[in-house]
Amino acid sequence: MISKTIKSDEILPEQMIKDKSKRIVKTYKKYVKKTMNEEKIKKEEIKKEFTLNDLPGVGPATIEKLKDAGFSDVIAVAVATPGELVGATGMTETAARKVINASRNNCDMGFKSGEDMLKKRLLVRKISTSSENFNKLVGGGFETGAITECFGEFGSGKTQIAHILAVTTQLLDEENPVTVYIDTENTFRPERIKEISAGLGLDPEKVLKNIRVARAYNSDHQMLLAEKIEDLVKKQELNVKLVIVDSLTAHFRAEFIGRGTLAERQQKLNKHMHVLLKLADMSNVCVYLTNQVQSDPAQFFGDPTKAVGGNIVAHASTFRIYLRKGKKGSRVAKLIDSPNMPDGECNFYLETTGLKDV
Ligand code: GTP
Ligand code: MG
Repeated sequence: MISKTIKSDEILPEQMIKDKSKRIVKTYKKYVKKTMNEEKIKKEEIKKEFTLNDLPGVGPATIEKLKDAGFSDVIAVAVATPGELVGATGMTETAARKVINASRNNCDMGFKSGEDMLKKRLLVRKISTSSENFNKLVGGGFETGAITECFGEFGSGKTQIAHILAVTTQLLDEENPVTVYIDTENTFRPERIKEISAGLGLDPEKVLKNIRVARAYNSDHQMLLAEKIEDLVKKQELNVKLVIVDSLTAHFRAEFIGRGTLAERQQKLNKHMHVLLKLADMSNVCVYLTNQVQSDPAQFFGDPTKAVGGNIVAHASTFRIYLRKGKKGSRVAKLIDSPNMPDGECNFYLETTGLKDV
């Protein structure tokens, strides 16, 4: 249409050419606007997020069951096994396969370039353990964006380290870094925070202001508290840098007794771990978990203890540290699992103002 009009322009008087060109420009602008709008709508349609509600043959009751079992989004379903979905919802295996395939086809599996990942690593902050040796062992301190689990027997220092980290978080080069402390055993002591702060030359009152403590009365309460942390970050805009769950497994262990309840316990623990993982990853938070040990009858040699919670806790934790009592009242920290540091050990003393290297 445009080229035809331009050809006929040659034989038209000047004013008519001007009018006609104006009309052509106007029509052309309209045409461009229309196509741009159409393209925008198309892009929005493609972008529209695929949610659990869009899964084929899945009603609201099943969605609830999926969410209860920790499959809170399409990615969680996409990476599940049919058996897990059958166990969680009671659907048939064929239906489970269909749902998994639909999730895999429709969700953005989140591929990021290596360059993007490197950029993300640059945002990682390291929270000091107050011991030079311990910091060295974990590559400079406990990382944000990751879960660090310390497991060990009673009195091995798990809670003391929690208090120390709650204080040293203040040393980060951040504006008002906040620690959220989920206390399941009633062992949080503000007096200890004061002592450790004074030892580091920090204002104890200011440090205490930047710590939010919540006592969890049972495992459901503990899980709910963890879910609410996202609100603190997003709605209250707190600069949460450290989340402590001390102890991660005590309530679960006390509430689910006997073999028959193991599957249910692990399912709930799985859901809890996913909430914490997401928090670490999305909000660049350091998650510090403490865990108890139980005797492992399968282990004949060496230390016959293993962490509670099994593979679910082990796999979700980025760093795993085994704490035990050493010689002359010292403590030994052994790095078991780390993506970027060699396994190793270090020794220190638990002191009133923090950790002291042996
Ligand atoms: P459970 O929670 O029972 O499994 O143990 P835990 O690993 O959390 O032990 P925790 O961190 O509470 O360590 C307790 C030990 O820390 C005590 O036995 C003391 O040796 C030491 N400790 C606690 N407070 C102080 C303190 O103020 N000064 C000194 N020097 N040591 C302390
Ligand atoms: Mg403790």
